[in-house]
Parts: sequence; structure tokens; C-alpha cells
Amino acid sequence: MKTGSKPNLGELNFGESIDAESENKVLRATVSYLREEINKFKSRPLVVCDLKKMINERAMIRLPNGNYFLVEVANHLKKDLLPGDMVLVEQRSFTVIDKLNEKGKSFNVEDFVIIEKPNNSWEQIGGLKDQIRELREVVELPLKDPGLFKEIGIKPPKGILLYGPSGTGKTLLAKAVAASTNATFIEFVASELNQKFIGDGAKLVGEIFQLAKEKAPSIVFIDELDAIASQRIDIGTSGEREVQRTFMQLLAEIDGFNNLENVKIIAATNRADILDEAVLRPGRFDRLIEVGLPNQDERKEIFKIHSLEMNKDKIDLNLLAEKTDGLSGAEIYAICTEAGYFAIRDKRRKVNQGDFILALDKIKGVEEEDSGMFG
Ligand SMILES: Nc1ncnc2c1ncn2[C@@H]1O[C@H](COP(=O)(O)OP(=O)(O)OP(=O)(O)O)[C@@H](O)[C@H]1O
Ligand SMILES: [Mg+2]
Repeated sequence: MKTGSKPNLGELNFGESIDAESENKVLRATVSYLREEINKFKSRPLVVCDLKKMINERAMIRLPNGNYFLVEVANHLKKDLLPGDMVLVEQRSFTVIDKLNEKGKSFNVEDFVIIEKPNNSWEQIGGLKDQIRELREVVELPLKDPGLFKEIGIKPPKGILLYGPSGTGKTLLAKAVAASTNATFIEFVASELNQKFIGDGAKLVGEIFQLAKEKAPSIVFIDELDAIASQRIDIGTSGEREVQRTFMQLLAEIDGFNNLENVKIIAATNRADILDEAVLRPGRFDRLIEVGLPNQDERKEIFKIHSLEMNKDKIDLNLLAEKTDGLSGAEIYAICTEAGYFAIRDKRRKVNQGDFILALDKIKGVEEEDSGMFG
């Protein structure tokens, strides 16, 4: 009998002479067939849950939504499960049918963050001169020369908060300072903590900071900080309590650091106005750096940076800067790319001023539509 096909139980002859050997053979094929079937079931979407504890061979699990259930466990797993394991449960019965990691280790933190060694240079940033200077003083200098701070007797900030509208270069700044200090850049998006890591965002935060220490010098970059650190009026639902726990853990991790440890925390937000004051207290994110929209000179610089490698005719950067009041660096970048597309559509190998103007009108059009809808 070939594997994968359903064994024929009719081959079993329960009549006068049961041949133990052939019985054995068919049963074994049956078991192997059923195992394969189980494997197919495993390949369906399964819910990732936290195992809280085992109670008489049954498992108490916590679902992504925060609810607890006492559920059955597949036989082969019963002796294998430990509290804290991350398990896979079947969607309808919530039966635990597999677990994700080795004993006691419920997840791999590196699956939830981006770890890189950025190579963004300061020169690739247009404008933002004050912000760059400040970042170099409060992040770069202490990482490069902690002795200086000891000698003078001051404590550099541990946490820096970059705030301002979208697309103004906050992520860019954080990466550039990581590059200039040759630090490991560990990035995660706060709003994803409790979504991606359904179950226990607080635990993940702990692991992220542990990782940062192991990979020091390092910069932990927390994007969309407001998602976990905004003021909450009521924390009624389990989801909100979960976010609150994650937030408390974040504060505890920051408080646990020494100012001169070679881990720095940089957070970014578009909504500094809604942040919980606890996060801004001295010793936490106590250095706020505003990253605003570029002025005309800065816009010219950004156009220059992003068009530098473009094959182009002479372009009037002053005019472009003049016409882009209110746009961000990200939008200027988009205009440069779009200008390239206008040339391509026109079957040219060189981008000209007209392409930039068309691109500008297009991006500004999109911008106006957006602010018309939401603004
Ligand atoms: N000052 C700048 N100089 C050069 N390029 C810029 C600048 N600001 C933004 N850009 C361009 O826009 C892109 C997006 O910028 P960035 O991701 O740093 O914005 P952000 O402030 O982090 O936005 P968000 O709040 O949406 O995360 C950059 O990769 C870069 O191409
Ligand atoms: Mg960003």
C-alpha cells in the first residue's frame, strides 16, 4: 500500500484466522494515514495563543482577544507543554495541536522587530540642521565618548522623542544617528506590538530591551509611540488593559537603564499632543525634538538630494522649492520619482523641468484631495 492513500480496513480479515502481522501492517498504515490527515488540519489557519497553565492534562490558554479558555490538548503534546509556551490552537474547538518554540521560550523576539545596521548619512537629510545637531549631542556623543559626560558630571538623556507630521524625516534622523555611531538599529512599531504579538506585548517589550543590551551599542527605535503611550480615559476592555500593560513595561524598561549605558531609545510620533505625561517625565523621553515641515530653503536642499542621481536637464530648484509650500520631504521625494515616470511615459531618457512641474501638480493634487477628505 502506498502512503498517502486511505488504507482499506476491509483488508483486515476478522474471520477465522487473524494474521497478526497483516493486521499490524494495516494498522500502521492507518496510523500513518491519519497522521498525514492531522498534518493537513494543522496547515489551516490556527490561532496563536499563550499557554497559561496545565490543569489535569487540559490547558488554560489566553486568546488574542484576552479571553481565557480551558481546552483539550492533543495527546502527543500533553507531556510537552509548559506555562509560557506559545501554542497553536484549532479555530473551532480551540484544541491545542502544536506549539511554536522550544520549551519555555514562547517566541523569538527577532521575528517581531527589524534589526539593521543602517547606512543613511547625515548628508542625505535636507534641512533639519538644529535637529541633527541636537541628536548628535544627545545620542552620538554619549555613545562615542561616555567619559566626557562622567568628567563633566552630567547625564545625557536616555530617551529622545521626535515629533512632527508624517514624512518629515523622523525615521531618517534615527537611522542616520544609528549609522554615525555604528549602532544596531532595532525598530518596531508600537501599534503592532499588541496586534502582531497577540497575547503579550509587555513580554515582547522586555525581550526587545534585552536584545538591545545584547547588541549594544544599539538604538531602539519606537515608531508610533502614541499607539501605546496615549492618555486613556478608561481602560475597560481587555484589549485596552493589554495595551496599558505593554506601556507600563516600556516605562519600566526605560527606568531600568543607566543614562550612560550604550543603549539609546528614540521614539517617534505624529501626535505628541495625546501622549501620556508619564512618558515625558524626566529620565524617560525627556528630550523632545520637533521635526516640522521644511521651509523653502530646506525644500530646495531636499529636491537637490533626491534629484542628485537623476539623469536630467537643468532644473530650476528654486522654482520647485517655491511651489511646494506645505509639502513634506516624503512628498518631495515622491515628486522626483513621479517626474522620472513622466519622462519614461514620454519615452525620454532625461528628465526635464516640465516633468517636475507635472509631477508637482500631481502630488499636490493628491495632497489637496487628502486634506479635503480628512482635514
Ligand atoms: N529632510 C529630509 N531630507 C531628505 N529626504 C527626506 C526628508 N524628510 C523626508 N524625506 C524622504 O521621505 C522619506 C520618508 O521620511 P521618514 O520616513 O523619515 O518620515 P517620518 O517623519 O518618519 O514619517 P512618519 O511619521 O510617517 O513615519 C525618507 O525616506 C526620504 O526619502
Ligand atoms: Mg517614520
